[in-house]
Amino acid sequence: MEEQRIQRYYEFILPLILEAGKVLLKANDVDVETKNDEVWDLVTVYDRKIEEVLIKKIKQNFPEHKYIGEEESDSSGEMRKLSDDPTWFIDPIDGTANFVRGLPISCISVGLTVNKDMVMGIVYNPFMDELYTAFKGQGAYMNGHRIRTSGCKDIRRSVFNYEITIARRNEYYFQMYMYRTKHLIREITGIRSMGCGVLGLCYVANGRTDAYQADGLFPWDAAAGVLIVREAGGHVVDTFGKEFDLMDPNFLATATKELSDQYMEVERRADNELLNNSKQNKPFTI
Ligand code: IPD
Ligand code: CA
Ligand code: CA
Repeated sequence: MEEQRIQRYYEFILPLILEAGKVLLKANDVDVETKNDEVWDLVTVYDRKIEEVLIKKIKQNFPEHKYIGEEESDSSGEMRKLSDDPTWFIDPIDGTANFVRGLPISCISVGLTVNKDMVMGIVYNPFMDELYTAFKGQGAYMNGHRIRTSGCKDIRRSVFNYEITIARRNEYYFQMYMYRTKHLIREITGIRSMGCGVLGLCYVANGRTDAYQADGLFPWDAAAGVLIVREAGGHVVDTFGKEFDLMDPNFLATATKELSDQYMEVERRADNELLNNSKQNKPFTI
């Protein structure tokens, strides 16, 4: 019964997402604005329009549903509370900075929670024609084919996608990212930074990378992708060691739990060095 209901939601939203993808493919001469005077926080008319259409259709078809969208949260200036009602999480374009440069690593992301539980995730990258989908308990798929993580269990063999630009947010994040990078870089095979949180998660799900980490993101950056990683057999934890919280997402997503434990151990070492140095007023050193 519940499964049929969620299937109905899927059939309702999928054509809208694919349509939005077509709009993005035709976009040219995209004007960019910054939000909150931050050079890294971008928005275009496409972000606003896609979200507006999705929310309008959700309201028309399911007036009792809730939604949390990036652009409407930004203009209302407040984060809605998560309730038990079906709630749609919408990032109309994730990776806007890539989109405006014609770098084909951006996507439309829609997640759904019911009773505060993530039950459906849909991510579409029209530039590579890749559609990622997951329903809770039913596996993750890309373009209809089952996907699984790489299965990597050894940090030394892992490729890590680290959302390092987040270090710019404030001094605390800056220090934390510098110390963690310093410690991690000596342990891993390679590092990437792709500027698209949602696809960062999807790329762990299909094994393109072994680990992805971003701190201080928002629920719309995480809802669909976290379910897709978990349904692909991956592991997601909060990077500060507490339970992953969709409404305050700091996440490390890895191919396996074993890999997650190894990353966490290195990061705790980094965090301890940062803590001790700051107590003693010592600067960051290599
Ligand atoms: C951004 C992307 C990026 C992350 C930023 C997010 P947006 O989302 O997910 O990877 O580093 O913090 O804001 O603005 O392109 O939707
Ligand atoms: Ca985003
Ligand atoms: Ca966005």
